[in-house]
Amino acid sequence: MAKLSSIKDIYQSPEIGASYKVQGWVRTFRGNQFCALSDGSTVKTLQIVVDRDTTDPELINKIKTGAAIVVTGTLVESQGAGQSVEIQAQELKIVGESDPSVYPLQPKKHSLEFLREIAHLRFRTNTFSAIFRVRHAIAFSIHKFFNDRGFFYIHSPIVTGSDAEGAGEMFQVTTLDLNNPPKNEDGSINFKEDFFGKATNLTVSGQLEAELAALALSKVYTFGPTFRAENSNTTRHLAEFWMIEPEVAFANLVDNMDLAEDMLKYVLNYCMENCADDLQFLQNRLENEEKSKPMAERSPMPLIEKLKFCADNEFVRLTYTEAINILKNSKPNKKKKFQFVIEEWGADLQSEHERYLVEKHFKKPVILTDYPKNIKAFYMRLNEDDNTVAAMDILFPGIGEIVGGSQREERLDKLEKRMTEMDIPHEEMDWFLDTRRFGTCEHAGFGLGFERLVLFITGMSNIRDVIPFPRTPGNAQF
Ligand code: 4AD
Ligand code: MG
Repeated sequence: MAKLSSIKDIYQSPEIGASYKVQGWVRTFRGNQFCALSDGSTVKTLQIVVDRDTTDPELINKIKTGAAIVVTGTLVESQGAGQSVEIQAQELKIVGESDPSVYPLQPKKHSLEFLREIAHLRFRTNTFSAIFRVRHAIAFSIHKFFNDRGFFYIHSPIVTGSDAEGAGEMFQVTTLDLNNPPKNEDGSINFKEDFFGKATNLTVSGQLEAELAALALSKVYTFGPTFRAENSNTTRHLAEFWMIEPEVAFANLVDNMDLAEDMLKYVLNYCMENCADDLQFLQNRLENEEKSKPMAERSPMPLIEKLKFCADNEFVRLTYTEAINILKNSKPNKKKKFQFVIEEWGADLQSEHERYLVEKHFKKPVILTDYPKNIKAFYMRLNEDDNTVAAMDILFPGIGEIVGGSQREERLDKLEKRMTEMDIPHEEMDWFLDTRRFGTCEHAGFGLGFERLVLFITGMSNIRDVIPFPRTPGNAQF
């Protein structure tokens, strides 16, 4: 009996002379004889050799790019260059035909922009199957990292009544008739009649719920979809993205930075160990793509070397205040090359500043701490100076901010004062404040933007290419 095997398994432990059954999609078919078969288990294809003399010509005629086939045959050492082994087909079945004259994917290079328009088929390209295998490995390694360290995975809600970040960038969730919503006497919409009896939205972050859980289970993390209705049409923003948010009780800002740095390095090492073929493929792709770019715009290191460099070197840690001084005295600032010139302490850092620090000044991942309270969320712990908060952002080369986190304000009076200053209604947040009333303690956590990490590890340059079905302003197809 032929055993059903994935192409990955066959390459891993090939049994020459054994009978195998393989199934997948035809990539190319040359000389009515050599079929390159892909099943998505690896970036490699398996060569299937069809016997031209004994195979029905009508069947041969149907072996076309894109067709789904099932093959049984003997594994032999390959005579041809380019592959170590191949299967001599004894039985070949066409399961799903394909017509290459109308099949959008041709055996040639397609642009990423074109592939975005056919996102339902782009999984079938080498590039996208590699990206999504690596994406899987990253997700798996994150769960493994936290599980191995005694963290519990908490499922925070997707529909919520709160705006965790206080930035007001929320998608509303309602079952009210938008053409005829119930009104209050003052003309405003009466959300008491809505499905949940109040106004609700899609979550922007699972942090507040993670805090509640951490103040009982000690170490928790969330890993879920988050939604932001910010109108940012950049290569690093999605309206729907995935976030990992660990939260740890009895932990301060330094513990938080250590955890984030350990986690990122663990994931990089895991991918280098377990996704070597895909990363090599993605590295070659990137090198090819960058050939057409001017030297100054090319990556300073090949992809895998860059990952190793980040995994092996300590991240630079400095305060926002130190960073502002570096930026103020930097060439692009003095020459007014930055779109947003840094004039004074208190300025919010833009992606151009973050990338200058990481790519030009330090040439390493950077952790910035102790930001002005006025540019950060209400829940961050106020420092002694009354002016800065115990925040930390991790900045990565080519990406900018990849992680945002902080030690939390655990002191009830200080938290309430900050909420008042920032116009956050106390009644609606009473459940959150309860944690500060009963057994409050130091705690800290952060949020890792999952797609930004996938972007970094795969060496892709647009965030729309590392999530299967991107959601961006004006785009929710598929
Ligand atoms: O810095 P942010 O807004 O932090 C929070 O949401 C905190 N509640 C996290 C916490 O402390 N538990 O978002 C965290 C990360 C960012 O550093 C960025 O990597 C990513 O989420 N992110 C986005 N990724 C893709 N598209 C967007 N629109 C993003 N907005 C934030
Ligand atoms: Mg942030």
